[in-house]
Amino acid sequence: MDFKNLVVEALVPVLPDSISKEQISKLIEKPKTSDLGDYAFPTFILAKELRKAPNMIASELVDQVNSNNFEKVEAKGAYINFFTDKDAYSNDILHAVLNEADNYGNSNLGQGRNVPIDMSSPNIAKPMSMGHLRSTMIGNSLSKIISKIGYNPVKINHLGDWGTQFGKLIVAYKLWGSEEDVKKDPITNLLKYYVRFHEEAEEKPELDDEARSWFKRIEDGDEEALVLWKWFREESLKEFNRIYDRLGVTFDSYNGEAFYNDKMDDVVNELEDKGLLVESRGAEIVDLSDENLSPALIKKSDGATLYITRDLAAAMYRKKTYDFAESLYVVGQEQTDHFKKLKAVLKKMGHDWSDNIHHIQFGLITTGGKKLSTRKGNVILLDEVLNDAEALALKQIEEKNPELANKQEVAKQVGIGAVVFHDLKNDRRDAFDFDLQEVVRFEGETGPYVQYSNARALSILRKADTKEYEAAENLVLSDENAWDTIKLLGSFSDVIKRAAKEYEPSIIAKYALRLAKSFNQYYAHSKILADDDQRNARLALVKDVSIVLTSALALLGVEAPEEM
Ligand code: ARG
Repeated sequence: MDFKNLVVEALVPVLPDSISKEQISKLIEKPKTSDLGDYAFPTFILAKELRKAPNMIASELVDQVNSNNFEKVEAKGAYINFFTDKDAYSNDILHAVLNEADNYGNSNLGQGRNVPIDMSSPNIAKPMSMGHLRSTMIGNSLSKIISKIGYNPVKINHLGDWGTQFGKLIVAYKLWGSEEDVKKDPITNLLKYYVRFHEEAEEKPELDDEARSWFKRIEDGDEEALVLWKWFREESLKEFNRIYDRLGVTFDSYNGEAFYNDKMDDVVNELEDKGLLVESRGAEIVDLSDENLSPALIKKSDGATLYITRDLAAAMYRKKTYDFAESLYVVGQEQTDHFKKLKAVLKKMGHDWSDNIHHIQFGLITTGGKKLSTRKGNVILLDEVLNDAEALALKQIEEKNPELANKQEVAKQVGIGAVVFHDLKNDRRDAFDFDLQEVVRFEGETGPYVQYSNARALSILRKADTKEYEAAENLVLSDENAWDTIKLLGSFSDVIKRAAKEYEPSIIAKYALRLAKSFNQYYAHSKILADDDQRNARLALVKDVSIVLTSALALLGVEAPEEM
């Protein structure tokens, strides 16, 4: 439906096979002036192969091109210029969006195949960091994006719920903890015990021995140890879930590191059988020097397995369980080496599907240029951010639309939407500074701006008080001012595919901003409700804009209030 695609499709049959569709698409230019058409194809690169002058090529090809979908196709110098048949195109697009509604932009590239998305994955008994939050929101958005192109996402919260720290936690809890405190404020208090453990263990190293033996008891399935471990996990999860609820994020699985405990032997045995395990100072490693990576430490000298061992088990489990098309890990870029090693080891094991594992990395969030430390309890920080954003949204609504019926609910949608949109609008790899004032600003390139544009479209439709346009056959909109918006509507499906291919929610966010802006410009330049023969087409455009803005926001995990 994208107009540029029509140009590509028209060119493919007449160009030599040596240039691919992608190349054609890359070569197509947008002429500076409208007398040169809407799209132009430069023929220079064909000169060598066809042994002809580019302007000759252009004038010969122009006769062969099927011009049905265009107002006209002309050769000018070395260029083939395509003039859009705007009337036909506007009619097509306006109908397509109306008819397909929520399904507009859908495709079935994925054919229902599974794509596990490892996302969020905070560590039990520790605050969720800003990194975990980015992972949550990026993963959530990616799940919606790939679902729209026909894949079946499986959202997995690979909780950090295993490791020696749980031994330390039990020792600390038994010495200084209270059940009441943990219940009241689990993360803060568990973290407090943990920090105190480290302080005291400096002086009393015997605490470390005790911790090790408690962790061993967890591993061996000792009743008392397991009960405590489970309880810490549950209390922490309650707190995490509170945050997920606020953000509107759900998971298909909470299988964390502990889940793989009984699946580790198989991994280690397989590595052994394949002759990949090497002993190094009592530990078992896989040598990865041929990949320019440091060795993967599989088993410590005391027999304990490690983070990467659990990830190997998880990767294999996911392949077996989901037979995935691709397997995504939305994890900060500081773990780049870890995922390189994970893939390298799987490859050495002969699992070629490791090529379908993708580390979806993202940049760090800083505040005032400094890295945020988890020690400071960023859970609280996020809660504050969300509270502030909601309060600010409410304030704006009170000023602009005091009569609004469900103000609290809308303030929630707008406030939370602002935070999520802010997190997703930049290229995910870019680090960005987290500045509360910036996040809750509602002007400029923000989620609330997109939400507001959508609400404005819906309010125009309420004013028009007709659904006549839904049944209208003729939706030709020949207003020059509407053209940009129509082209944007037509490109939605391609935008989604590109976002999926690059695992980049920001492509959707930027698109939503562009569409909102384009629509607002159109709105400023035209009398939408005027009573003439294009009224239906204009109203259809307004409806279509709201359909696509709502979908785009949904793909980011942002709600679209009908009024605000
Ligand atoms: N719990 C880890 C951390 O907080 C993130 C886990 C990411 N997922 C994975 N499969 N390794 O750093």
